[in-house]
Amino acid sequence: MRNRQVLLSTVFAAACGLAACGQNNDDAGSASRTGALEVNGLQTPAAFADIADTQERAAALFTEMAKVIQHPRCANCHPKSGGPTQGDDMHPHNPPVVRGEAGLGATGMECTTCHGEANVEFASMEGSIPGASPWHLPPESMGWQNSTPSEICAQIKDPERNGGKSLEDIVKHNGEDHLVNWAWNPGEGRTPAPGDQETFGALTAAWVEAGAACPG
Ligand code: HEC
Ligand code: HEC
Repeated sequence: MRNRQVLLSTVFAAACGLAACGQNNDDAGSASRTGALEVNGLQTPAAFADIADTQERAAALFTEMAKVIQHPRCANCHPKSGGPTQGDDMHPHNPPVVRGEAGLGATGMECTTCHGEANVEFASMEGSIPGASPWHLPPESMGWQNSTPSEICAQIKDPERNGGKSLEDIVKHNGEDHLVNWAWNPGEGRTPAPGDQETFGALTAAWVEAGAACPG
């Protein structure tokens, strides 16, 4: 009970201590307060509350989270090998770039050579160059392009592959991390991930609370 309260207060802190909280979606905060079942195409934890079996509920919650995790805005930065991909069709990055040391790109051609701290609209045509600091790739062990929700679930929980994170760390990462946040603020010419970060963070917390079982 105590742990549960600690976890819940962490989630509330995550939801409303965030700079981006309510910025891009004024309805989001009120949606969780009013018990809305869906926000921008992503179901909220309330939609799963009546699944009595916790294992079944956790699996269903993760399947919903996977709508975000597998979205091109996330998956373009989470390749299993090689460099990043671009666009909704996840084509190879153009110009070609390499992962380099610590995912930062090649020496002299780091990701941050082109990607700044914020999105920048192209001057001469439609579109923009993404930005958030520092823009870089995660290690290959955190790659999940073309993986199934079940495979990604096992991977995300595995400290050997997730950078030594606990389940609470994952809740915080999904609810607060600024690279994760970019997926809902992707700049001119890009489709945002479904839902919003608050709902995604709340789904992650509910999944952990239900025991973090994976879909079959
Ligand atoms: C700009 C590239 C970038 C984008 C976009 C991005 N990530 Fe990541 N992600 C990273 C990096 C770098 C790390 C490793 C840093 C760390 O562990 O804190 C990481 C780590 C993670 C982790 C922890 C590792 C694990 O296997 O558990 C999760 C979960 C995650 N990202 C989810 C997402 C989700 C969900 C989205 C989209 C909503 C997203 N990321 C978008 C770069 C990105
Ligand atoms: C030479 C400049 C340049 C370098 C270096 C560079 N990028 Fe890019 N990147 C771009 C441009 C320009 C775009 C936007 C392309 C478009 O949308 O037409 C882009 C788009 C992306 C996208 C696509 C986002 C999406 O969802 O569509 C990702 C992911 C990305 N870059 C990751 C990286 C990473 C990681 C590195 C370093 C390993 C890197 N980039 C290095 C110029 C660069």
